[in-house]
Amino acid sequence: MKRVITFGTFDVFHVGHVNLLQRAAACGDQLIVGVSTDALNFSKKNRYPIYNQNDRMRIINGLRYVNFCFEEESLELKREYILRYNADVLVMGDDWAGKFDEFKDICDVIYLPRTPSVSTTQLIEVISSSEGNG
Ligand code: CTP
Repeated sequence: MKRVITFGTFDVFHVGHVNLLQRAAACGDQLIVGVSTDALNFSKKNRYPIYNQNDRMRIINGLRYVNFCFEEESLELKREYILRYNADVLVMGDDWAGKFDEFKDICDVIYLPRTPSVSTTQLIEVISSSEGNG
């Protein structure tokens, strides 16, 4: 049984997220997803996600590719999470290429190409700029 772990915010869920999760699941038998908490996002970006962490977790949990998800409370705890959930493979989008190579002593580390032309940040900009135009 090969267990795959990945991490992300997955706010304003979009096709880039589903592509990443589908390919991550195909790297093993079980997919575990760490969904970053609202507090972690606020501390990183000084703004809260559009969808709160309970809703983001519900969306991720509802996907057929995902076996289990948990709250990622700190970016510094990746090693602990990998060990806690017995992950054999860490998968991340290639916006993180090279950044998690330090975990190669405990699991395989795979960076998958991002889906072009879609991101949560860009979606929020498009939606905000179209407000009031209709
Ligand atoms: N991802 C992807 N392709 C995209 C967008 C995201 O493969 N077009 C991947 C990321 O590489 C990451 C995971 O999906 O592994 C979660 O990404 P997240 O940061 O939550 O989404 P983004 O859309 O990148 O959000 P933001 O614009 O806020 O950075």
